[in-house]
Amino acid sequence: MVENTGGIEALLHEDRTFPPSEEFRKQANISDPNVYEEARRDPEAFWAKFAEELDWFKKWDKVLEWNPPFAKWFVGGKLNVSYNCLDRHLKSARKNKAAIIWEGEPGDWAVYTYRDLYREVCKFANGLKSLGVKKGDRVTIYLPMVPELPIAMLACARIGAPHSVVFGGFSAESLRDRINDSQSRVMITADGGYRRGNVVPLKQNADDSVTGETPVEHVVVVRRTGTADDKMMSGRDIWWHDLVADQPLTCEPEHMDSEDMLYMLYTSGTTGKPKGIVHTTGGYLTGTYATTKWVFDLKEDDVYWCTADIGWVTGHSYIVYGPLANGATSVMYEGSPDYPDRDRFWSIVEKYACTILYTAPTAIRTFMRWGEEYPAKHDMSSLRLLGSVGEPINPEAWVWYWQTIGGGRCPVVDTWWQTETGSILITPLPGITTLKPGSATHTFPGVEADVLDEAGNSVGPGGGGYLVLTKPWPAMLRNIYGDPERFKETYWSKYPNIYFAGDGAKIDEEGYYWLLGRVDDVINVAAHRVSTMEVESALVDNPKVAEAACIGRTDEIKGQAIVAFVTIKDNVTASDALIAELKQHVATKIGPICRPDDIYFAAELPKTRSGKIMRRLLRDVAEGRTLGDTTTLADPAVVQSLKEQYGDED
Ligand code: WTA
Repeated sequence: MVENTGGIEALLHEDRTFPPSEEFRKQANISDPNVYEEARRDPEAFWAKFAEELDWFKKWDKVLEWNPPFAKWFVGGKLNVSYNCLDRHLKSARKNKAAIIWEGEPGDWAVYTYRDLYREVCKFANGLKSLGVKKGDRVTIYLPMVPELPIAMLACARIGAPHSVVFGGFSAESLRDRINDSQSRVMITADGGYRRGNVVPLKQNADDSVTGETPVEHVVVVRRTGTADDKMMSGRDIWWHDLVADQPLTCEPEHMDSEDMLYMLYTSGTTGKPKGIVHTTGGYLTGTYATTKWVFDLKEDDVYWCTADIGWVTGHSYIVYGPLANGATSVMYEGSPDYPDRDRFWSIVEKYACTILYTAPTAIRTFMRWGEEYPAKHDMSSLRLLGSVGEPINPEAWVWYWQTIGGGRCPVVDTWWQTETGSILITPLPGITTLKPGSATHTFPGVEADVLDEAGNSVGPGGGGYLVLTKPWPAMLRNIYGDPERFKETYWSKYPNIYFAGDGAKIDEEGYYWLLGRVDDVINVAAHRVSTMEVESALVDNPKVAEAACIGRTDEIKGQAIVAFVTIKDNVTASDALIAELKQHVATKIGPICRPDDIYFAAELPKTRSGKIMRRLLRDVAEGRTLGDTTTLADPAVVQSLKEQYGDED
């Protein structure tokens, strides 16, 4: 039964503001507020200045070609992303600087200097070539958070083979869908990964994903847990260490066109089928490079830690490409924050003297619940800047983060962006922006956004509406892989030539953006995007289920929790065992992150006369609210009986 505690609601009103300290402002990479106006006047010149800080084999002829909704950035330019993340740093003392500091969950660790990383990337790139991978071939990567993951991505980038990283928490079936959609002939996986003291059986899932008809011809396996030594299929599987053993230590980087595909990354949309978001080379690198430098105020001696998994876009842009293009030291951690104890993150901050920490509100709320004694055990005075991403951060969590983790001295940058946007778009600049807890503040210079009503009018200060982006930006998605119609329909059809983000937002009297969550059928569970449709299809896939509808219920820790309303077939009896079975069914079918938190049995689902399920009413039931307007229901008794069964007293 749902309990409406109202706890966080009551604390939502935090109206303190936090201007940058004089000390921070003085040393910041950018502290001149005129930069906004300059970028607005000439956004192409603004972005080109960042692009010029990268290494190009051939300079572009034209900054932007915009045939809505198709954009081309740095047209005619040639470059290589792995060259920009590695080779160019070898020309200076940076070559012996730590590029990646990695810590495994069991406590093992490794440091890769830029020179080390370059060598390992070249060897693996040669290994991929020896398997017949060529420019343009897609490669699926299904790995835990081990150094081989960024190495594999950079190796793909080096030879011009777009990668498709699939989060290690996805099931065999989800992996299979993504492999088939991308038509990858090579997959890179590991025998297993460590999570909360257990081994995640990646090789088993990988094997299950390529049974029957499959495009996959080669599976490269990283030996991490020693749990699949007897499961290597001869002729198909090859150990990573065997593949790289005799490879040359250098590999010429492909000269890629600025608009060649760098990678695709699947994300959930409003239909059950995940979308392969396409990112290209020059614009993406420019966008991630620029935002990493300015938003995180990155300096030569920073130790930067983004706690995301590289299976999500945050890891792509802000563990791998942005930081490495900047020549930064990027920390990577394999496992769970509560293993062996709840102070693991803080022990990592102390051990490597991290200066910048970038994490998600769901993690922050979890740490709040665990209590201050865990961070208090560690010296975290090295920290100088904190970041947040993935979902709206409630002011209470913001202030706790600022005070308890940042010691009241570190600016908190709340960054809004999406898989589709490639780089951060709404964010403070820590040397300029006066922070307001709970607001992502302003667009990054050169980015134009707005909040529109249904008819496409700007709602103006105070009003709520749909967040849109009115001008192209360098790291924007170029397409949905193999499905330009869906690309147009999803993002560009609501308002002509304007990007529809799928988020609600408002702008306050001072021009600050406040993000209000998704406005479509996407649920944001612990900062992970889950499509209600995907969970519903997984449920009806179980032979006992007749129909299912899912909604996101507000959750104090995870932001949203998945609640499923299920109608079972006539000969099936509702029971706790069935609830457990259905939850497990979804976890197996899609992945554990999609496991519903609650399942409610419904004799019928509330529908409009045209047969559309009214999720809004289900949300009212799940959150124990008074029912909203029920006049369009075909049969109002349906939702009334659900409410009596599951809703709270009004
Ligand atoms: C949400 C993650 C509020 C939003 C980078 C967006 C946020 C979705 C924020 C994208 C934020 C991300 N404040 N909401 N700072 N950051 N979101 O594709 O709903 O995994 O549309 O990209 O997360 O999730 P995705």
